[in-house]
Amino acid sequence: MEWGQTKKKTIWTVFLFIIGMNLYAEGILPVNLRTEYKINPFVDVISPRLSWELTSPVNNQFQSAYQIIVSSSQDLCASSKGDTWDSGKIESSATNQIKYAGKELHSGMRVWWKVRAWDKNGDVGPWSEMAYWEMGLLEKKDWKADWIGLDLRENFTDSEYDLPPTPYLRKNIQLRKEVKSARLYISALGLVEFKINGNKVGNDYFVPGWTDYNERVYYQAYDVTDLIKPGENTLGAHLSYGWYSGYLGYALLVGTSKVRDFYGRTPLMKAQVRIEYTDGSTDYIVSDKDWKGCSSPLIESDMLQGEMYDARKEIAGWDKPGFDDSDWEEVLSSEDSPQREIELYPGNPVRVINEFTPREIIPSGDKKHIVDLGQNFAGIVRLKVKGNPGDTVTLRYGEMLHPDGRLVTENLRRARATDYYILKGDPNGETWMPTFTFHGFQYVEVSGLDEVSDRTITGLALSSDTKLVGDFDTDSPMLNQLYSNIVWTQFANYIDIPTDCPQRDERLGWTGDAQIYVKSATFNTDVAAFYTKWVRDLNDAQWSNGAYPIYAPMPKTNLATPAIRGTDKYSPGWSEAGIICPYEIYETYGDTEIVKSSWENMVAYMEFLKEKSGGDYVFEEGSFEEISPKGGFGDWLSVGKKTPPDLLATMYYAYCAELMGAMADAIGKKEEAGNYRELFKKIKESMVRHYTDESGKFVTDTLVYGDGSGYVDGHLGFRGHTQTAYANAIYMGLVEGEDKRKAGDWLSALVAGNDGKLATGFLGFKPLLPALSTTGHIQTAYDLILSTEYPSLGFEVVNGATSIWERWDSYTLDEGFVHNASMNSFSHYAFGSVCEWMFEFMAGIQVVDPGYRSFSINPVIPQKGLSNVSATYHSINGLIESAWEKTGNDLIMDITVPVNTTANICIPGQMDKITINGEGIKTDKFLFVDRRADMTIVKTGSGKYKIKVSDR
Ligand code: BGC
Repeated sequence: MEWGQTKKKTIWTVFLFIIGMNLYAEGILPVNLRTEYKINPFVDVISPRLSWELTSPVNNQFQSAYQIIVSSSQDLCASSKGDTWDSGKIESSATNQIKYAGKELHSGMRVWWKVRAWDKNGDVGPWSEMAYWEMGLLEKKDWKADWIGLDLRENFTDSEYDLPPTPYLRKNIQLRKEVKSARLYISALGLVEFKINGNKVGNDYFVPGWTDYNERVYYQAYDVTDLIKPGENTLGAHLSYGWYSGYLGYALLVGTSKVRDFYGRTPLMKAQVRIEYTDGSTDYIVSDKDWKGCSSPLIESDMLQGEMYDARKEIAGWDKPGFDDSDWEEVLSSEDSPQREIELYPGNPVRVINEFTPREIIPSGDKKHIVDLGQNFAGIVRLKVKGNPGDTVTLRYGEMLHPDGRLVTENLRRARATDYYILKGDPNGETWMPTFTFHGFQYVEVSGLDEVSDRTITGLALSSDTKLVGDFDTDSPMLNQLYSNIVWTQFANYIDIPTDCPQRDERLGWTGDAQIYVKSATFNTDVAAFYTKWVRDLNDAQWSNGAYPIYAPMPKTNLATPAIRGTDKYSPGWSEAGIICPYEIYETYGDTEIVKSSWENMVAYMEFLKEKSGGDYVFEEGSFEEISPKGGFGDWLSVGKKTPPDLLATMYYAYCAELMGAMADAIGKKEEAGNYRELFKKIKESMVRHYTDESGKFVTDTLVYGDGSGYVDGHLGFRGHTQTAYANAIYMGLVEGEDKRKAGDWLSALVAGNDGKLATGFLGFKPLLPALSTTGHIQTAYDLILSTEYPSLGFEVVNGATSIWERWDSYTLDEGFVHNASMNSFSHYAFGSVCEWMFEFMAGIQVVDPGYRSFSINPVIPQKGLSNVSATYHSINGLIESAWEKTGNDLIMDITVPVNTTANICIPGQMDKITINGEGIKTDKFLFVDRRADMTIVKTGSGKYKIKVSDR
């Protein structure tokens, strides 16, 4: 193009832009288009759900209608021809959970879409940018590939662990025509890393994730057009044992006869490449008997034990064209199991989310160094070395150091968590990263090298790639560090499933930890897809009697027996994750699909509880004696006397009934909703009758528990009148009015009587600060969060924590490790459940209508201890901001309300002392204004609001 032409084009573009700006300057614009919670994803849902957010320069803006166009090509979409779906103008304010309702879409079809919205005045805004989604393989019969693998199970060498080598599989293909597009669909029973012409496909780890492989296995889909070239191409796969046939949990520790191979023995993969040529024809290259296999240089590989890579065994060019594989072995191919579903991975793939360079390198003996990466995280390292062939570098991982500088590995129990790299002796140096394992660590002990520089080791944090949606900041550096610790512990434990901890021989999807923390998680990252995946795991793991398990996935030896440890069946406070997690996802994202797809499972659990309670609506003392531990895990890791686990079980029963009522309403099951509400009332009444005295205090019949043996910490004795009991009763809505006030006073008195300290465990801590705050004991709540004395989260921070610990006193600067190392993780998110209170009470952001279509901003402000809090939360309906700052006698609040939502802003002050954006409150400017004695509530639509309360 000539300069003159370019200039003319530029002027024309600028002109059009200005015209456009004028037309749409006031326009409402949809942005952040997503399909099934993801941007431009592959999906295998027949009617995927679409969502967008809205922007508008106008305050109080709403969407009155929308139109969606879905087209079979980008061009058609650009010219607004919705040949697969044109929704027409739909009068609705909905911007998410909108199901595609166009022509039937078939496997492999990519469709483009866009949306426009009409604003509150009925004026239409501009079309959004275009987005797309692509259908995966919708039916089992779309798979033409076989399961293939190579059995290397007999070749292991280690005496302590059964750690066989891993196979490479390969195939050459010839492409004689010009390729228009190519897709890879890849699944494995085990783990797979797939390569095309030597390039790793995608940047995901641990594909295809952990499921009950007997019921379902996932596949990933990738656009590999750019990796395929004309002529000869090579498809290569590296397989490992992973969750399918590697070590799982504490089976080895507790002496279970089977310690690995819970789903199968030999890892297999299924790969299918669909190639579309420019002439319109299609080819499939699939995994089948024609592939060849060979043992790889990765001679040990296990998620818990780590890896050993012998670079001398590298096979140059194995994954590239031109390689002679005539001496490679025939692969084995295996029939598919008819009852196993194969579905597209619904979660967020595990990826590298951050890199850490060494903070300190500490020499620790002959050819030994400890590298401190400065943050406790889960992941792997990148090792860069130079040396002689056969030199071995040993990498051990730990979360802490002993006072004498040794790495703490005792708390890893039977997880070897060690990687070995054997050098090939490349004079230019060698770089290696483990492929199919991860560790929970801050420190790496590097043995075998004379020198370690800050380039030798780089930490790579792995996590399910859930997008950050929250931020939290205060004028307390301790609290800011605490928030960082919470987020990092979430990243470290959200690895395909929500695990308890990432380091020791456990890493299981413990349901109690998950249900306690799920709400907190929603404020930090977008966990909609992550939980869509795990709630399915949970439903798959449900026992045939209706009980949800204590962890999911749950390997089983048969329908009724856990395989990792025979007694791992169910526990009150844990199993309820099956109801609480879908509820929280529904409430946070307005997602009714998760409710519908879990409904039967949830009803079965409620039936199980009903039967268990014998129709009495209460679990009396000793109701769960048959499980191990007796009564279940109860208020796990609490301090002092134990709250009766049966009282907690009763409270959870009631809470579940309440949530079931709300969920039944949400999916239009009116009658069930009524029944569950009635049930909630009955349980509440029975609980009060059985577990409270005349004054309303919680009591328990301690005689039933005898000397407490068989119960968790039973020797400490039981008491009904505990912080945990009142905190849960208040949080779960089991006490109202005067009873609630009394419960709040007792709770606060119990804290005061305990030297101003908490005494709660897993089940008691989450509700503790919310319960204090909603009963007027705001300063007590703040004193607890700001405390740096044992037991508190602040105590961890001042003792150097960069993550949340399993125990309140996992470590102290003075005494070191006082606890049995066998249960002392430094990356356990359960006590991070206080994050919910930080966002909902400190910043005051509370959902009112599901998906934050309406919400309240009602921060609780302490008398002392803190001067400002600032939080952002990017909801499915857009960005919410809430900040407050005390300046002298004034209070400044900064609030952002997204387009198409409403907020009830609770301003702590009388109306005549308040200005909003510099003006006094004019009632006609807001949707609603409520004047109360010490508070003014303003209901408003979108916009940014600077609020000043003078002379408080
Ligand atoms: C886990 C916990 C889990 C518990 C059951 C532990 O070993 O690490 O977080 O919830 O077992 O009480």
